[in-house]
Amino acid sequence: MIIKEKPEWGELATFVPNKRLPVYNWFYYKEGYSRDMVLNVMKKFGMEKGDTVLDPFCGVGTTLLACKQSGMNSIGFDVQPPAVFASIVKTNDYEVDKLEAASKELLEEKFQKPDWGTVTPFVKKAFNGHTLDDVLFFRDLIMRMDDGPVRDFLTMALINVTMKCSYAWKDGAVIKIRKHPVPPLRKIFKRQLKYMIKDVKKFKSTDASCEVDFGDARKMKLKDDSVDAVITSPPYLNKIEYSKIYSIEEELFFSGMGLTPLRSHIGISESKMLEEEEKLRKITEDAVFNAQSIAYFSDMLKVISELKRVCKDGAKIAIIVGNGCFPDGVVDSDVILSKMAEHTGLTVKEIIMLSKRWCTRHRVEKVGVTRESLLCWEK
Ligand SMILES: C[S@@+](CC[C@H](N)C(=O)[O-])C[C@H]1O[C@@H](n2cnc3c(N)ncnc32)[C@H](O)[C@@H]1O
Repeated sequence: MIIKEKPEWGELATFVPNKRLPVYNWFYYKEGYSRDMVLNVMKKFGMEKGDTVLDPFCGVGTTLLACKQSGMNSIGFDVQPPAVFASIVKTNDYEVDKLEAASKELLEEKFQKPDWGTVTPFVKKAFNGHTLDDVLFFRDLIMRMDDGPVRDFLTMALINVTMKCSYAWKDGAVIKIRKHPVPPLRKIFKRQLKYMIKDVKKFKSTDASCEVDFGDARKMKLKDDSVDAVITSPPYLNKIEYSKIYSIEEELFFSGMGLTPLRSHIGISESKMLEEEEKLRKITEDAVFNAQSIAYFSDMLKVISELKRVCKDGAKIAIIVGNGCFPDGVVDSDVILSKMAEHTGLTVKEIIMLSKRWCTRHRVEKVGVTRESLLCWEK
């Protein structure tokens, strides 16, 4: 398969450009990509207002939000509570008056000592006592509010400042606790609300619809032939598992929610492995698999079949994906997934390399080059 190059789109495959964008930046997501990547793909695909776009791994809703701004209807699924929540909050329609009134009322409430009953020792360690008191006090007040979008908006602001006022330090895939002076939560909560309301005022949206839900990309609750395009990015094979760095947010704000993620890390049972490997080898001919990649590609094969099922004839599919880096070499996910797409009956139009980097063993010994690529397919 021929691989083209577009290094000028490399940074757009990261969340970094979103940090400057109102609403897009309400929740930083390590695994996210940028609005401009979505806009570029839309242009490349010649998409039009009124089209329906699916993001089966929607993360914090970048595709969905870009669709809403561009007049395209969108549908998004994810398994992680903070991701689904952030996607919903960012794509909601708000009445500014209601947000302002609710924020004022909340900040005027007289403090009462909240119940720390369900907080685990780990989360207790991540805050000083006053901060945790304020977080729980505001959280419980917000949870009692009736208006759904207002409640979600205030919760988003609170999550944002909760993490800014914590001792938690997200270092790669792990949370480290580092005690240091933190700002008073109440003060920066007020500032955050003001800043987010300002974002709502200046954000140019359309009345395009957006549906977000918990859902597994391997089995989506969608009708056959119902979407015009897919713009997405699945988990990458053997990439650091970042889901644990949201465990404080999960415990304080989303306990008990969530579904099973795709197996980019979890193994597969011994007996099923040979069977799955044989199936994958038939599709990809020469590819060599280890246990981890068998689990991953078996899952992704299910996802690709689902994409074929829910796409209309002629629908365009964009997948941003990185290759797998292992101590014994690189697994070319971009090529393998494209072979799977062809096997499933989709047409592979292009594979475009966005960036590349060394894959190393023990951090120093180079074992190959991994690409991050944009895969363009069509049904
Ligand atoms: C690379 S991230 C996508 C980021 C997104 N493009 C953004 O900009 O925010 C992959 C996402 O897939 C989600 N995920 C993992 N397994 C899934 C599954 N089986 N079904 C749906 N989503 C899943 C993860 O929670 C994660 O949010």
